[in-house]
Amino acid sequence: MDINAVTTSYARWAPIYDKTFGAITKAGRRRTVAYLNAHGPRLLEVGVGTGLALGGYRADMEVTGIDYSNEMLAKAKAKVDKEGLRHVKALRQMDARSLDFPDDSFDAVAAMHLVSVVPEPERVMSEMARVVRPGGKIVITNHFARDKGFLALLERLTAPLENLLGWHSDFPISRVLGDDRLELRERKPFPPVGMMTFLVFEKRSPA
Ligand SMILES: C[S@@+](CC[C@H](N)C(=O)[O-])C[C@H]1O[C@@H](n2cnc3c(N)ncnc32)[C@H](O)[C@@H]1O
Repeated sequence: MDINAVTTSYARWAPIYDKTFGAITKAGRRRTVAYLNAHGPRLLEVGVGTGLALGGYRADMEVTGIDYSNEMLAKAKAKVDKEGLRHVKALRQMDARSLDFPDDSFDAVAAMHLVSVVPEPERVMSEMARVVRPGGKIVITNHFARDKGFLALLERLTAPLENLLGWHSDFPISRVLGDDRLELRERKPFPPVGMMTFLVFEKRSPA
């Protein structure tokens, strides 16, 4: 997607997100959060959206969330205030292609349903690899394009609607696998009905 379409699309999604896409993806998000709770405490959630995951983190985590959409972030901030989530240290408007954090700042970086939305996903992977510490984890939950079958055809047919939908429906997994600093440690299907994929990368230590 182009960045202007992210702004317009997620301004439209923000009021209805939690009860639509957010609800469908709840089980996978819960499992991703359970994994992250064992790999903190310093966590960066990239594309934090309306903050649906924030209430699930352990109280001793130190969570920073960033998102490009002010409307999505406003929803996240409202949740943090309403639920008194003191482990959420900061929520900032930021472009994932250019993260305003020093190298090696986090123990884990999470990107749920983000990589098929952002412009230049390779650049986002590179930034996430830069800010996670050596030995730290990058955790991605996302839908990736299928190779064959009716759903693969549907994904290809809806691909031109990406700026309207708010994501790229036939996004190939190869676009997140190319950063040499990252070693793929886990890859498994995730709910709903195995439509999503859970990926864990570990940042290699410098030679
Ligand atoms: C499908 S939502 C996922 C939200 C949340 N991670 C979740 O699982 O519910 C995608 C989010 O990515 C954000 N986003 C898209 N492009 C971005 C960018 N370049 N930088 C930061 N956030 C971005 C959107 O604003 C939106 O909130």
